[in-house]
Formats: sequence, C-alpha cells, structure tokens
Amino acid sequence: MTDYIEAKKRAEQYGQDHLFRYYDELTKDQQNALVEAVSNVDFEQMQGLYQMAKKGEVSGEGAITPIAVTDKQTVSEEVLQAWEAYGTKIMQEGRFAAVTMAGGQGTRLGHNGPKGTYDIGLPGGESLFQIQCDRLKRRSEACGRSIPWYIMTSRENHNDTVAFFEAHDYFGYNKEDILFFRQFMLPMIDFDGKIVMDSKATMKEGADGHGGIFRAMAACGIVEDMRKRGVEWIFVGGIDNVLVKLCDPTFVGFLAKNGYRLGGKSLIKRDAKEKAGVFCKRDGKPYVVEYTEISDEMAELRDEKGTFVYGDAHILCNMFRIDALEAMGNQGLPYHVAVKKAAYVGDNGEVITPESPNAYKFEAFIFDAFSQYDEMGILRVERETEFAPVKNKSGEDSPETARDLYTKAEARNALD
Ligand code: UTP
Repeated sequence: MTDYIEAKKRAEQYGQDHLFRYYDELTKDQQNALVEAVSNVDFEQMQGLYQMAKKGEVSGEGAITPIAVTDKQTVSEEVLQAWEAYGTKIMQEGRFAAVTMAGGQGTRLGHNGPKGTYDIGLPGGESLFQIQCDRLKRRSEACGRSIPWYIMTSRENHNDTVAFFEAHDYFGYNKEDILFFRQFMLPMIDFDGKIVMDSKATMKEGADGHGGIFRAMAACGIVEDMRKRGVEWIFVGGIDNVLVKLCDPTFVGFLAKNGYRLGGKSLIKRDAKEKAGVFCKRDGKPYVVEYTEISDEMAELRDEKGTFVYGDAHILCNMFRIDALEAMGNQGLPYHVAVKKAAYVGDNGEVITPESPNAYKFEAFIFDAFSQYDEMGILRVERETEFAPVKNKSGEDSPETARDLYTKAEARNALD
C-alpha cells in the first residue's frame, strides 16, 4: 500500500495522474505490477526527453571530416592470411564471443513474434536465428571449441525467444553457450507529454535502442560472464542481416594486430542518396553521421579515385575489445526520438489504435559510443558477401531480396 501511495504521489507530481486512473478496477496482481512499473520510471528523465522531443532533436555539433578506412579488397593476400591466422588463434583459445541484438520490435517487417523467428523462405525453412546459429556451429567446429553466443532480447520478446530456442533444441548448439539477456525499456510519451497507457493496467514501453546494449550487458552480468570465460574480443551484430559474419577471424585479426579497441565493418554506398549512416570523424573522433545530417554536397563528394569521401555505410557489424565494452557500460548514451503509432486507452477506457503516429519513442544508438575513443578500425567489405538485411515486408531489404542474396552467397561458398 505504501508503495502504491508513493508511486501515485510521484506520478501526480509529474502530471502523470492518468497512470492510476483505472487502478481500482484491476486485479491485485495487475495493481502490483503497475505500481512496480511506475516505481521504476525515472520521471525526471522522461520529462527531459519529452522536452527534447518537443523542441526537435538537435544533432550534435562539430566539424565532420573523413575517417580512414581499410578496404579489404586492397589488402595483400599475405596480410589477409596473417590477420585470419591471428583471429583464428584467438578463437581457438576461447578468447572470442558473438552477440546478436534481437531486442528490436521489427515494426516494418510486421512479423508476429520475435524477428529472429522469421523464416525468409529458404528451402530448409531456417529462421533468422537458425541462420546465425548455423554459422556459429560451422566456425565452432572449425576452431575446435564452442563459441559463446549472447542474445539481447527485450521484455516484449524475451519469453518467446527463449521458448523458440527450447522448441528447436537450441539448433543443436551447446545450450550452455547460448545466453540471453534483456535490454531496458523506456515508456513512450504522447504529444502532450503523457506516458501512453496501452491498457488500463500497463504503460506502453519500448526497447531503449541498440545503444542500450552496453548498459544491459553490464547490468545483466554478461560482461562478467565473458570475463570468467576469458573472452577478449566481442562481435556485436543485428539479427536481421542474413549474411552477417558473426565469427570472422580476419576482422578479429585486423583489429587485434593493429591495436584497435573497437571496430566496424563498412560497405561503400550504392549511390550518394542511399539512406544509410556513414562513418566519419566529428571533432576528430569516430562518428556515424546520418544521411539526414549531411549536405548533398558532402554526400556526393568523391576523392581522386572517384570513391565517395563519406560513403562508408555503417552496417551494424561491430567488434569491441572487452575493456572497451566494459567502459561503455558506465557511460550514458544520448537518446534519439522516433515518432510512432502506439495504441492507447481512450477517455472511456477503450483501447484505440491510432491511424497516424501519436507518440514519441526514445532510443540510444550503438554508434554514439564510438566517439568515446580517438580511433577505431574500419574494414570495408563486399556487400554481396556480408550484407542482406531484412527490414521491410516487401520491396527493398525484404525477405525476398535477402533470400536471393543468401542463395547466391551459398552458391559461391561464401557462408563460412
Ligand atoms: P532496427 O533499428 O532496424 O529495428 O534494428 P528493428 O526493430 O529490427 O525494426 P523496425 O525499425 O522496428 O522496423 C536493427 C537491429 O538492432 C536490434 C534489432 O533487433 C535489429 O537486430 N535492436 C534495435 C535491438 O536489439 N534493440 C533495439 O531497441 C532496437
């Protein structure tokens, strides 16, 4: 009871009285859950985020300059082999792990269930999770030990994700080497600054973005688990790129041999207008500038060889040395605002599904962490072998395009 009074008082203090409007109609369990959820809200923070959303997000300031990129195509066979051998040794010694970020909502794909459970229509009916697991299995076999695999979920999809792995017997992978952890959530806020209630008993919360990974890994004891296992290098990628090379010894070797603490893979943009964030430096530090943040002139700028100066797209394939990952867990990242549709409880207690966006969602981006370092290693790779995202239901970056690219890569034996 005191918790309820306390939570209600705090909500009222911040103009969020509506959170408890239907409290008396709820079951005891629902009441307790609501009090707990509201007690966990940082109202001060939410107020600040709302004000930022209202004003319009201010993109960071500072001079944008090009960043050095290593184009894999231009590296000699001898050097590539040395990197690969070094990375393989790291893997054989158990000093490598992979993380898959699968906490997103996958709204554009519109699949009912975690995105990783989606079947893109390959002849074997493999889900996105299985595609990644098969790759881990192959690399584990090649290096003679099972590579730890950490999967980030969100509160929304955690239970369904774990149940999916259980139902598929962890795809034959060593169960002790697949660990799930949940990212944090943040309430969504309507355009009047009220936290959205999506039922009489629950607030609408959204996963806090892929940048939430550092805090989640620290809070869930994942970094600690890695340390215990002796892991030093960690690949972090998304669930929705069916060509992601989760365990790429060449990439590990490239970073380790060159003394980098973090790195990313890039692809050269298809054209100046491709909607992708690109690597650069801002105020002398590594940064990913969104396509909306640079001028047409910059987007079209080419060097003397005709290559885009700001053309290395970030594809959510990053690697961190454990100390870098650990340090980032202690630093807050800025939040960005997205405007989304969120079902809400109307004045008469009914749930209304809006026709147009009605709420702000707040997300941190993983690449905002890059600027905490002076340098990062960027390896430019080939699109056909490393990038086939599943974002939309149809058209560009859809299951159909991903299936096609996957099938072609398989035919070229490029799925190691
Ligand atoms: P996207 O930003 O493309 O989002 O995520 P999404 O959830 O897959 O799809 P939309 O935008 O709702 O349609 C890129 C990767 O980052 C992960 C996603 O699961 C995906 O692997 N991600 C994104 C998280 O793990 N957590 C988040 O909060 C956001």
